[in-house]
Amino acid sequence: MASITIRQLDESLKQQLRLRAATHGRSMEDEVRTILRAAAAGPAEAAPARPSPRRSEPVAADAAVPSPIPRPAAPTATRRILLIIGGGIAAYKSLDLIRRLRERHLAVRCILTAAAQEFITPLAAGALSGERVFTDLFDTTSELDIGHIRLARDTDAIVVAPATADLMAKMAGGHANDLASAVLLAANRPILIAPAMNPAMWARRATQRNLARLIDDGILTIGPNAGEMAEHGEAGIGRMAEPLEIAAAVEALLGDAGERPLAGKRIIVTSGPTHEPIDPVRYIANRSSGRQGHAIAAAAAAAGAQVILVSGPVNVPNPPGVRTVKVETAREMFDAVEVALPADCAVFAAAVADWRVAAPGREKIKKQKGKAPRPLALIENRDILSTIAHHKAQRPHLVIGFAAETENVIPNAKAKLARKGSDWIVANDVSPETGIMGGEMNSVHLVTADGVESWPPQSKDEVARALVSRIATALGD
Ligand code: CTP
Repeated sequence: MASITIRQLDESLKQQLRLRAATHGRSMEDEVRTILRAAAAGPAEAAPARPSPRRSEPVAADAAVPSPIPRPAAPTATRRILLIIGGGIAAYKSLDLIRRLRERHLAVRCILTAAAQEFITPLAAGALSGERVFTDLFDTTSELDIGHIRLARDTDAIVVAPATADLMAKMAGGHANDLASAVLLAANRPILIAPAMNPAMWARRATQRNLARLIDDGILTIGPNAGEMAEHGEAGIGRMAEPLEIAAAVEALLGDAGERPLAGKRIIVTSGPTHEPIDPVRYIANRSSGRQGHAIAAAAAAAGAQVILVSGPVNVPNPPGVRTVKVETAREMFDAVEVALPADCAVFAAAVADWRVAAPGREKIKKQKGKAPRPLALIENRDILSTIAHHKAQRPHLVIGFAAETENVIPNAKAKLARKGSDWIVANDVSPETGIMGGEMNSVHLVTADGVESWPPQSKDEVARALVSRIATALGD
């Protein structure tokens, strides 16, 4: 019997073997044994090796690599995702995303932009998806076989990951000069984008403008997350959401497709603290993390609502599928809420500062030796909840306030319901020993004109889902 060593194989064969072994989580030697065993078992099991396709060619994975993953025609793979991979360093994470989606029994078809091919190859995407990979708009083979219109339609959802600044700009502008943008323009399925870029590019007005337009157009978003960037020494918001997070968002998107009780409703949510400047470097703030408000915004979006989240300074990511307007002060929050009207429902979960400094210092206030600091004169901020609840022309149908209390929770909440003119108050005890402010859990009482319901302690996400379900019922009525 002939003996072969992997070292003697030619480079392209070795590369294919490496990929196939990695796909199966085996060593290269084990992979060779598996192939030989399959070959010995019968001709149908062994696929002939073929030359690697050129980069611009559409790639049939199993034309280049001996069928590494079962074809998605398997009985479980009934739903299909079209994954558009943009050109950024995060493209390598999209290879893992393909695996995560396939683990969830989703068939995955990939489009790689020209820039994406600078980071990963169609061969790798094809090997992992087990499907032909598409790269060119003007490709006679693919246009005859499966044109860009069919690519856009023959899927349950489209995921763009990484969504680069350029790809987002093209989507927002309705461009169609390459396969990815043409497919996105032709699509009539839900689209989820996972932006990834340098934090400075993400923060640019142009990118934020494009993002706002995409969200208005009904495009769902996940991430970007905060953290270290691939570039040395760069950190901030811009990392692509992790493949597991994106896969979960895709599952939620597909799962929710038939059940969107807030579809067609517009909801404003305020969240987080406000910062009231004392001088250019100091401010008055509170301990609100924004977790509860952001969870409500996310749950409302998942239920199909068009959500405008007006958020004070927080460290939690913008929820997917939500238009987030970032503000600092109570006055900015007030203005942003007014601009966001009209709405069917408004949820005021923000911990708005009650007072602002009457005359914040233009320069940093300096200590003066032996002198007491000058007292801070405060003036009251306008109450956003109360103003909107009493709005003559544009009062939302359902106005919900929060009451953060440290004592007499329910009596105080009842008093707030009457005083502020809201329909419901969600009351919670935020004494330090409860760990609610800034924590993961919440324990709330829903105070309405009909009485008080005390909900069991649960995560802020669960509180959000329960509240959204109540909102859907109320708006439905
Ligand atoms: N709120 C608001 N605008 C303000 C102050 C509060 O919209 N300027 C809203 C909050 O978002 C919350 C509700 O009013 O929904 C209650 O906030 P809370 O801080 O609990 O009550 P206050 O009105 O500030 O009363 P107090 O601080 O005396 O408890």
